[in-house]
Amino acid sequence: MVIPASRKLDFREVPMVDIGALGGADDAAVIREIARVCQDVGFMYVCNHGVPQSVLDDLVAQAKLFFDLPVREKMSAAVEKSPQFRGYLPLEYTGDEGPEGRNLQEGFMIMQDRPLGTVPLHGPNQWPQALPSLRAPMMRYFVELEKLARRMLPGFAAALGLAADFFAPFHDQAMTTLKLNHYPPQPAMTEGEMIGVGGHCDGGSFTILWQDDLGGLEIRNRSGEWVGVPPVEGAFVVNIGNMLQLWTNGRFSSTEHRVINRYGKDRNSIAFFVNPNYSAQIRPVIDVAAANVAAIDYGQRLQVNYRRIYPQRNEAWVSGGSSAAQ
Ligand code: OGA
Ligand code: NI
Repeated sequence: MVIPASRKLDFREVPMVDIGALGGADDAAVIREIARVCQDVGFMYVCNHGVPQSVLDDLVAQAKLFFDLPVREKMSAAVEKSPQFRGYLPLEYTGDEGPEGRNLQEGFMIMQDRPLGTVPLHGPNQWPQALPSLRAPMMRYFVELEKLARRMLPGFAAALGLAADFFAPFHDQAMTTLKLNHYPPQPAMTEGEMIGVGGHCDGGSFTILWQDDLGGLEIRNRSGEWVGVPPVEGAFVVNIGNMLQLWTNGRFSSTEHRVINRYGKDRNSIAFFVNPNYSAQIRPVIDVAAANVAAIDYGQRLQVNYRRIYPQRNEAWVSGGSSAAQ
């Protein structure tokens, strides 16, 4: 199954959507706006999202402390030690050395803590011993963003004319991932030589992104022009991922994006990737002519993506990533 092409437009900027009313009795106008923006752009700012500022501030402060730790301390929780792909991703971890050049980003990621069992990638998170204060704010942020995600999913469904709870069963064991990102300054950067993160589309359902006040995020319109997504105080950036493009048969756009830190200062961002269940079988559900369209197995796709992006070796990944195989 190839993901159907999207129908995005030659947008010049990312629209702001006030989601304060979403989920209430009077949310028809918000839903119309979501439908339009997901189709034409694939990216939106959302305000009145309900995530407490203090929850965000606490995590931002801890994220900075984490990235300031000596590499040795960060590596004590390196992703390659975790058969379930959780933990620290050192600078230039990626195996994707595309035409955009070398990635210049480090990260730290967690998923839902789940018992080891038969589902590959279910398991415990890893935490850095040198910064015990990271854990609580990261878990609180996870809980708050999950609440927001659970408000947005019915909004997307309604925007497509589907039952509000259509996406819920695909996300009740979600592989949702919270990732702290740090982009060091790129001294004397020449265009195309080095980049924060090269052009890519997010692989899951949708992403809720916080970025600091520097800038650097860019998204690609239909003609291939890069359009800036500057930070807006109090708003998150929400973008459609590949699985929603697939579900919607290309009506929603998983729009390509990249980050270039041109500012001579450290840049931080926090990405909350709302992902389907490992076992989810995903196929187009709207505008479909043939009744029996082949599905994508999301879990398999996730494993392939992780192994490509993080080529550092862990036995469990090589043998298929099953936690039960330990
Ligand atoms: C990502 C991403 C953008 C940013 O992590 O997939 O696109 O601003 N991040 O960090
Ligand atoms: Ni991305």
